[in-house]
Amino acid sequence: MDKKVTVIGAGNVGATAAQRLAEKELCDVVLIDIVEGVPQGKALDLTEAAPIEKHDAHVTGANAYGVSAASDIVIITAGIPRKPGMSRDDLISTNAGIVKTVTEQIAAASPNSILIIVSNPLDAMCHVAHQVSGFPKERVIGMAGVLDSARFRAFIAMELNVSVENTHAFVLGGHGDTMVPLPRYSTVAGIPITELMSQDRIDALVDRTRNGGAEIVALLKTGSAYYAPASAAVEMAESILKDKKKILPCAVYLEGEYEINDLFIGVPVKLGARGAEEVIEITLSETEKAALQKSAAAVQELKDILKKLDY
Ligand code: NAI
Ligand code: 2OP
Repeated sequence: MDKKVTVIGAGNVGATAAQRLAEKELCDVVLIDIVEGVPQGKALDLTEAAPIEKHDAHVTGANAYGVSAASDIVIITAGIPRKPGMSRDDLISTNAGIVKTVTEQIAAASPNSILIIVSNPLDAMCHVAHQVSGFPKERVIGMAGVLDSARFRAFIAMELNVSVENTHAFVLGGHGDTMVPLPRYSTVAGIPITELMSQDRIDALVDRTRNGGAEIVALLKTGSAYYAPASAAVEMAESILKDKKKILPCAVYLEGEYEINDLFIGVPVKLGARGAEEVIEITLSETEKAALQKSAAAVQELKDILKKLDY
């Protein structure tokens, strides 16, 4: 393949993302983890599936970054996931250290890469990766909104008994309890769901979306969601690798857009070969604006914790 994507963290999200990247034949894949043998073993296993899955993407596993040199994209999934009762924010201290270490090594091996951050708490980890890499803001992009919107879309399709392909949804804001699902901009075959469902049902779907991550954690008991998160990260990578210029909700560094400054938070973004090529500013009602500002305040609190931890 003429493109190379490195996935850091060969755990649930990382290994699943590697599988999807290879099976879609988007790029060669390098899988890196600190645990010896695991990335090598998973890479070999994926390589042995290739004849059956009919793709020619090379998948390599490693503990060091040499083989990942000159990657086009690096997806960072390294870190600990939450356990039942934990919030994403409880992970901040441990994962900030991990994201710092891996970002230093990525910046040295692949200085021109585009970073897709997955590790939680997502918006805070984007700050760490941005600061440590020194990359321009266009090349540090957080994955959360695509996942949260996919959850909202799945619940809309279940509610109305329609194809998921007919659904579109936007969830903005931070990747936490204050995330901002936007029913007015969420549609089925172009029709806003506000015309298709009662307010009570919309509220129920919005709540389920906000709790989507916790719902899976409570069921799994030993980790968090990974199939949909991997799909979301790969949709972002595909738009960049193919320069598709899809507009997707992603966490990017805002400098005044949506009246938010100096913060990573989820907004609609055009993703192409240069990374986050444009922030799309949609008109928000006063209520929606207030919800986004509340979410920004929650992200700011995480940023303040990072500051106390010297990031
Ligand atoms: P996991 O525990 O299955 O995998 C994490 C992997 O990271 C492990 O294999 C571990 O050995 C590795 N790792 C730890 N330190 C490392 C280092 N310094 N260098 C390289 N690898 C290292 O966890 P999972 O389920 O894959 O989740 C990964 C992260 O992604 C968690 O922080 C989780 O909360 C987050 N997440 C974020 C989502 C989002 O929407 N942004 C969605 C799902 C997960
Ligand atoms: C999720 O939303 C854990 O952030 C992860 O599933």
